[in-house]
Amino acid sequence: MRIPTGIEGFDELVQGGLLVERVYLVSGPPGSGKTTFGVQFLAHGAATGEVGLYVTLLESPQNIVDDMSNYAMNVPTLIKMQKLLFADLGPRMEYGYMDELHDVITPEYEIGRSSAEGDAPSPAMVFKEIASYVSEYNVKRLVIDSVSAIRFTTNDSSLEEKEMSRFIRNLKKLGCTTILLSELTDPDSYTTEQFASHGVIFLHNFLYEKTMTRALQIIKMRGTKHDCNMRGIKFTEKGLNVVDFLDG
Ligand SMILES: Nc1ncnc2c1ncn2[C@@H]1O[C@H](COP(=O)(O)OP(=O)(O)O)[C@@H](O)[C@H]1O
Ligand SMILES: [Mg+2]
Repeated sequence: MRIPTGIEGFDELVQGGLLVERVYLVSGPPGSGKTTFGVQFLAHGAATGEVGLYVTLLESPQNIVDDMSNYAMNVPTLIKMQKLLFADLGPRMEYGYMDELHDVITPEYEIGRSSAEGDAPSPAMVFKEIASYVSEYNVKRLVIDSVSAIRFTTNDSSLEEKEMSRFIRNLKKLGCTTILLSELTDPDSYTTEQFASHGVIFLHNFLYEKTMTRALQIIKMRGTKHDCNMRGIKFTEKGLNVVDFLDG
């Protein structure tokens, strides 16, 4: 079964939408639209009754909610209806945000959290907390911002790859359609998260004939006949919008 992303112009590039219960990677440099892509996907599901969870590992949810409330996606309303949830699973130092919405958005999931104050929680702990949210709120759409943070929990690079691969393997069993966001540093170097995900989408933001140009490219999408070209994207008041072919 496929579900629409709600991103205008995107679903027709992937035979109508994303296959459910799979894990996708949306990768791009800062400002390329990853957060917008993720929240738009969740808000679209939430509007049709599917609970969406946005997990932040590096940034405070408050900033993301503020920024995303600028779009006409009904983010504040969907949060109040508990159809859209934000969870801060980053270092404990980040706690204490969003006091007035605290009860709605961040029930305490302290169990099993044994890292010291300020330490990044381990991938296993992050996964456990995500799994608790998923079962308690019957989450159907999940976004993790960002998996790059999973790498910061260890400084042994061989362990890092193993952890990443384990983390993604576990996510695949959660029963959610998941979008992992990651910072794209080098589009030509293949990472564990690209291999491990069912689908990979790049968001580009580059200089083209003297103007900054934004584009989207589907790198892989298992089980799907998909478009491979660079497609221009623009931001509208509704979020991301895939426009015509960028070039040829
Ligand atoms: N309401 C809006 N209308 C138009 N463009 C916006 C709006 N909000 C954000 N943007 C654009 O989106 C960019 C940030 O997108 P974002 O999804 O946060 O990227 P990323 O998560 O990859 O850093 C901003 O730099 C800005 O250009
Ligand atoms: Mg972002």
